[in-house]
Amino acid sequence: MKFRPIVLSLIILSISCSERSEVDRRVDALLSQMTLDEKIGQMNQLDYGSVNSEIIAAGKAGSVLNCVDAARINELQRAAVEESRLGIPLLMARDVIHGFHTVFPIPLGQAATFDAALVEEGARIAAKEATSHGVRWTFSPMVDIARDARWGRIAESFGEDSYLASVLGAAMVRGYQGNELSSPTSMAACAKHFAGYGASEGGRDYNTANIPERVLRNSYLPPFQACADEGAATFMTSFNDVNGVPSTANRWLLDEVLRGEWGWDGMIVTDWNSAGELIAHGVAADLKDAAELSVNAGVDMDMMSYSFIGNVSALVKEGKLQEKQIDDAVRRILKLKFELGLFEQPYIDESNAGASDYCEEHLAAAKKAALESAVLLKNEGVLPLKEGSTVLVCGPMADASHDQLGTWAPDGQESHSITALMGLSKLFNVIYEPVLEYSRDYDMGNFAALKAKALRSDAIIMLAGEEAILSGEAHSLADVKLQGAQREFIDALSKLGKPLVTVVMAGRPLEIEQELEDSDAMIYSFHPGTMGGEALAELISGRAVPSGKLPVSFVHSSGQYPFYYNHSNTGRPNQGNETLIGDLPLKAGQVSNGCTSYYLDAGYGELLPFGYGLSYTSFKYSNITLSSNELHSDDVLKVEFELTNSGDYDADEVAMLFIQDLVGSIVRPVKELKRFERVSLKAGESKHICFELPIKELAFYGLDNIFKVEAGNFKLWVAGNSADGEAIPFKVI
Ligand code: NOJ
Repeated sequence: MKFRPIVLSLIILSISCSERSEVDRRVDALLSQMTLDEKIGQMNQLDYGSVNSEIIAAGKAGSVLNCVDAARINELQRAAVEESRLGIPLLMARDVIHGFHTVFPIPLGQAATFDAALVEEGARIAAKEATSHGVRWTFSPMVDIARDARWGRIAESFGEDSYLASVLGAAMVRGYQGNELSSPTSMAACAKHFAGYGASEGGRDYNTANIPERVLRNSYLPPFQACADEGAATFMTSFNDVNGVPSTANRWLLDEVLRGEWGWDGMIVTDWNSAGELIAHGVAADLKDAAELSVNAGVDMDMMSYSFIGNVSALVKEGKLQEKQIDDAVRRILKLKFELGLFEQPYIDESNAGASDYCEEHLAAAKKAALESAVLLKNEGVLPLKEGSTVLVCGPMADASHDQLGTWAPDGQESHSITALMGLSKLFNVIYEPVLEYSRDYDMGNFAALKAKALRSDAIIMLAGEEAILSGEAHSLADVKLQGAQREFIDALSKLGKPLVTVVMAGRPLEIEQELEDSDAMIYSFHPGTMGGEALAELISGRAVPSGKLPVSFVHSSGQYPFYYNHSNTGRPNQGNETLIGDLPLKAGQVSNGCTSYYLDAGYGELLPFGYGLSYTSFKYSNITLSSNELHSDDVLKVEFELTNSGDYDADEVAMLFIQDLVGSIVRPVKELKRFERVSLKAGESKHICFELPIKELAFYGLDNIFKVEAGNFKLWVAGNSADGEAIPFKVI
């Protein structure tokens, strides 16, 4: 009995070893039969619009992206399996970013749930739907750290915090890949964009990123490492350069760090034509050069630049690439195909395609995600509104069945969206007068009609925000505000003498200080997906209680970007008494003494901190105790506390643990999230919570570039957001 677990684990170990070697054996056997051209064909990924059965039968592509038609997928697969010389199946890929047909909130919204289990479930559902159509590889999760909302792709990210992105990125990997890659409902995940893409200068997409190696390692790489550790099958290189080296040609990043240091052995694909773009970057003279650089850096598969298919053969003949490098790349590609079970089961059951799309279970999970991702930013005793009361519904996002799906939802169908208007109409007596038809609209022509109707209402619900196309790839903004006449509209609504509830559906944290002031209540829902409207109606009526927390800081002004709560300390930390522009005396002499790192016109801090989010109830944190105030680097710190729902509604609270390393060999962040937990509490209920934090998780790359814990004094906070809580000291000895 006693020895059973050991025996069992030995058996499991030997099974997985023999399975691993069985796949390796099959890969090697196949590889030994392949010509160089057939190998290079496997390294080529083509878009659906550029392939046909002849190209596939000739073995000129190993993967196809963007086909979601089961019959066409089977047709292409037939050409690969039955007509190509070696019958190697295709790997079908698609951007399944936040749901497939059933669309979940954008990733930034999902981050606001602080609910890893729910994020995992969303990815599992996306995998179930997408695989039934024949997609076995998704280009997700995107774990770029985004600290500048001008960058449109912040919508696809989990926000500004490395730890949150690490936990949620790993959860998505688990969800997509399921228990076994070989299950027909599993999709290979792809951690992207490796690396530093979120730091694109000025928030302009595709722009250069300058990130010192220590910052890269301490802040930008951890979520990628978390995905690698979770077994993400693939990685995608990013478009940008980091410190002058485009990622697709970055041997240090791909080969030394990812494969060498992290010991990850998956497959690396370029981003769309990012090998070809090495020419525009000015590091390659032509496609041949680009192919040489990319393969030498460690890339296995070329997405749509044709640089590998056209040049690798010549490069091998000229000795600029070794055939062993090609073999290694193809080995990784074939291995993934074997692991996905594509050799055993290349075809999909067309009669089952889409069988679970939009099923009740999937819609319920999408609704739960929309409920948990909505963040209550303000509530002056207005919400919840009484069910059945008369509400005037207006604004460009009120009936935005397409736009509420958000960016990168190519397979979401707006005909399935529950809009806010639809959701609210079920619970309230709705008077609808949109006024602004779309988010960039300036025409407030029928405001007079609205005014008359407003008199008959108990409250006004304004659905503000941005169209889906205003965020996402290639859609950066210099000024992240509500577009069109929305600001003026909200201002006018606030003067009608009715309670004003503003909902913002957007792909990024917008500058909303003025609108926040004008509104009596505000819910920030991001782009909430298929079930967004139903979720919002339930939150507004109090059938559900808001519980989302901001995964990004909200600023006063776009000029404050990049902005993030976990910034480094400066030599002049905030004193809370900065002189603002209006307080400067005329003809003032030059002064700098006592001044801190702040803006005259925007101050030092944020409008709303990371982690912020209100509820209809209130929560109390008490009896916070530490297992010890002095710990060694191999100890586990236990932080225990009581969390009490001290209000009148059953609700969830996200409890967070932050730390600060007070003295380090390099400047340390003013605060860092280390743990979080979403806790459900009935009104009046208390729960005992324990965060366990191994001290080794306080390690960082310091002055000597070695990842380790530095002994010294620390502070910790347990609170509902990054600005609350009392500091508690502890020491690492
Ligand atoms: C470009 C995008 O940067 C990437 O995120 C996406 O996965 C690929 N195109 C494929 O569509």
